[in-house]
Amino acid sequence: MATDQAGIAQAPGALPIVGHLLPLLRDPLGFLNTLPAHGDLVQIRLGPQRALVVCRPELVQEVLLQDRTFDKGGPIIERVGNALGNGIASCPHSAHRRLRRSLQPAFSRTCLREYAAIMTEETDALTTGWSDGRTVDVGVEMYGLASSTIARTLFTDKAARPAVETVTLCLPDIFRGIYQQAVLPPLLRRLPLPPNLRYERARDRAWSAVSKTIGLYRKDGTSHGDVLSMLLDTRDEAGGSLSDSEIHAQIMTLLVAGIDTTAVALTWAVHLLCQHPGVQERLRAETVKVLGTRTATWDDLPRLDLARRVITETLRLYPPGWIFTRTTTTEARLAGAVIPPDTTLIYSPYLIHRDARSHSRPGSFDPDRWLPEHEQVRGALIPFGGGARKCIGDNYAMTLATLALATIVSRWRFTHGAPRPPHVEPRMTLTPHNVRVRVECLERASV
Ligand code: HEM
Repeated sequence: MATDQAGIAQAPGALPIVGHLLPLLRDPLGFLNTLPAHGDLVQIRLGPQRALVVCRPELVQEVLLQDRTFDKGGPIIERVGNALGNGIASCPHSAHRRLRRSLQPAFSRTCLREYAAIMTEETDALTTGWSDGRTVDVGVEMYGLASSTIARTLFTDKAARPAVETVTLCLPDIFRGIYQQAVLPPLLRRLPLPPNLRYERARDRAWSAVSKTIGLYRKDGTSHGDVLSMLLDTRDEAGGSLSDSEIHAQIMTLLVAGIDTTAVALTWAVHLLCQHPGVQERLRAETVKVLGTRTATWDDLPRLDLARRVITETLRLYPPGWIFTRTTTTEARLAGAVIPPDTTLIYSPYLIHRDARSHSRPGSFDPDRWLPEHEQVRGALIPFGGGARKCIGDNYAMTLATLALATIVSRWRFTHGAPRPPHVEPRMTLTPHNVRVRVECLERASV
């Protein structure tokens, strides 16, 4: 196995000039899964740039916990910053504490309880258009659910609806563009190629729609009790408020970070339940017992245990956020190697979740592995990252996914409606395409 002077393993198969660009564009998941066999810290090449992939849970934890040394940075974060502005997800450590504090109250337990009422309403609305025997495109349905729920959490005022529609339409091109642009060398990124132009157009449209909404809220001056009003009213320790561009970046970040991830998680969950009808029936028995014919609410959560484990296992097998980068701000030590400043590191929840050293039968769907009696490897489940930059919406996402899945399964039986398995497109999120499912209404049929 090839190692460099610092004892870091080199991933094999790098081509002159492009390095590992081709496998990263064609089959990034397969490529990532080959890396742990070469070492705990493996160097790959993205054109002329080099990056170290961190392949052990305990090393990923070290990186995540030392957020000053392993700061946000690297090609993905640069592209996220370019698309969204300098928001909480892409800002450096020096700006992070202030931005995180401004958003934290919006994700308190008290607020979550209120958002759960919106989740319940939107879940009810989701299936009103379904009919017995119809085939639905689960990805489209779940995207609709997540975008309407999250948009209503951010902006309750009706005046914001057109902006919400524009942004949700633009998001798929933004996600695809962020990943493509992150792996492309800078020269190719700047060429007027159709994917680059599509990305820029989508980013600019979403950007101006959010600006318009902030302008409307500022002009209106009343508090709407939503996240945007909270951000407009926020004051830091010195009494300063957030600027319009900071608020803009926060809102764009929440839309981008929250909608697709949650929709993708729910889509994979439905796909897995079709593949595993036995688990689907067990989940139905739980939900019918807890809910009867009601829609799931916040108070039901403690009793929707299997629903939660199904979501957790889905997030392990198909973590929506599958690749993230960091940059060293100073010389650092990791796995006994000395890493120079300005080195890009990559951590991948997908790689960690699929490693047989941490999860037995890593490719199998087994929600029961999350029963409390089973011991887990520390740091081996990281769908929401960790440390100071851990997902701020983790409880929001788990609540929405659990309530929605429980309600839907209690009323509908799913079977795969497409002959072929979904096509997986790793963009910013691990997106399944073509999850087409036949839905059978159980309010008329016997359960
Ligand atoms: C299943 C759904 C979700 C998954 C899998 C997910 C995953 C993640 C991950 C892995 C990170 C850390 C990224 C890193 O280490 O660089 C993150 C950060 C973040 N997520 Fe989520 N997320 C989800 C839902 C949400 C929702 C619903 C929201 C908000 C509405 C949200 C907002 C954020 C924000 C603002 C950050 C940046 C936090 C910071 O840097 O302080 N996410 N998410």
